[in-house]
Amino acid sequence: MGGLYVFTEIVRMGIRNTNWKPRNLSEYIGQDLLVRELAVEIQASIKERRALNHMVFHGGPGVGKTTLIDIIAKSRGLGPPVRVPGKSLKDHDRLTELMCSLGGKPGKDKNGHNIILPPDGYDLKTGLLVDPSVATFPILVIDEAECVDTSILELLHQVLEPESSGLRWMLGQKTESGRKKQWNVWVVEFTMIFLTNYFGKLMRKASATLSRMPIQHGFEYYSIDELHDVVTQFAEHIGLTIDEDAAEMIASRSHGEPRWAVNYVRMVVGYSTSERNISLFAASKMFETKGIDSNGFNRDQITYLKSLVDAGGGPLGIDALSVILNTQRDTVEITIEPALLRRGMVMRSQDGRVITSEGRVAVSGDGAASPFYSRALG
Ligand SMILES: Nc1ncnc2c1ncn2[C@@H]1O[C@H](COP(=O)(O)OP(=O)(O)O)[C@@H](O)[C@H]1O
Ligand SMILES: [Mg+2]
Repeated sequence: MGGLYVFTEIVRMGIRNTNWKPRNLSEYIGQDLLVRELAVEIQASIKERRALNHMVFHGGPGVGKTTLIDIIAKSRGLGPPVRVPGKSLKDHDRLTELMCSLGGKPGKDKNGHNIILPPDGYDLKTGLLVDPSVATFPILVIDEAECVDTSILELLHQVLEPESSGLRWMLGQKTESGRKKQWNVWVVEFTMIFLTNYFGKLMRKASATLSRMPIQHGFEYYSIDELHDVVTQFAEHIGLTIDEDAAEMIASRSHGEPRWAVNYVRMVVGYSTSERNISLFAASKMFETKGIDSNGFNRDQITYLKSLVDAGGGPLGIDALSVILNTQRDTVEITIEPALLRRGMVMRSQDGRVITSEGRVAVSGDGAASPFYSRALG
């Protein structure tokens, strides 16, 4: 009751916590197969008093990977995951530091100096887990895992599975004034999660390592129905009601990504005359002001498509498109193009980009293109 009171009070005062995110698996929308698999895995790892199995998640930005990983950690009763960009795992020294930081807890010796104490639950001499009830089972998330150096992937490979005795170890290394010191480091029972947007590349680089990571999932883009649920759920949690047609409009302009859906709900408040309710009028006004069309494409994306139509459908090279859009090639490739390619508006050919019939319809003036989201990641 207290919580509800505080919540209503916050809304009454006009302060909204717009950082709300799904907090457990039942609040998490979409990715149904994975969510079901995780529910079983979390229960099993609690019952068997072990770390969660290693995981590989692939998919573009904004599809709910970070949100889900936070939910996994919380549902298993673990501390916040440790996150590391793949690019930062440059050498053996850095990897050693990272793996050491997973175990051990900071403490003080008799003289008050900072030292690392052995982690709870592990036998100091053998390095074996003796009391799983107090182990921390940390989760290590490697972002852009395809960027990790091959030699580092080989070291990681070993640490993913324990020896038959139950001991996990790796060769540690520390370089001091050009001298390499190497020793065996035992590693606590942990869960590795690889994230990547380039699964093929990671697979080519690390197929042996991936074979030790049993939970693998490609995050799908969300259907309009799922995004509709994301929109209404988020609105409700930040103390708003939203009209059906307004929710529909936001859902169909979010490119299959919950991140967009949620961001549009945050923004639409500014276009609304009511503090509590979001109408179709407010949503239309927001999209019109932002120059976003009925497919969710922004001005640059519309210009991109129209240039191709003007060029007889293409092909147009990426450099020509950058000139027309008055922007860097990178911007075209990283921010403007992906949604157009993924939604089948354009195709890549050897000589450049070519518009599809879907793309022509999208800029034909009546905006009749059906928003189509490929179920697989392209
Ligand atoms: N399944 C979901 N249900 C509801 N909201 C979601 C869901 N997935 C993501 N979101 C919202 O979208 C935002 C972006 O998701 P995030 O987990 O950061 O994506 P990623 O890590 O894949 O880039 C989150 O802050 C959250 O508000
Ligand atoms: Mg993320």
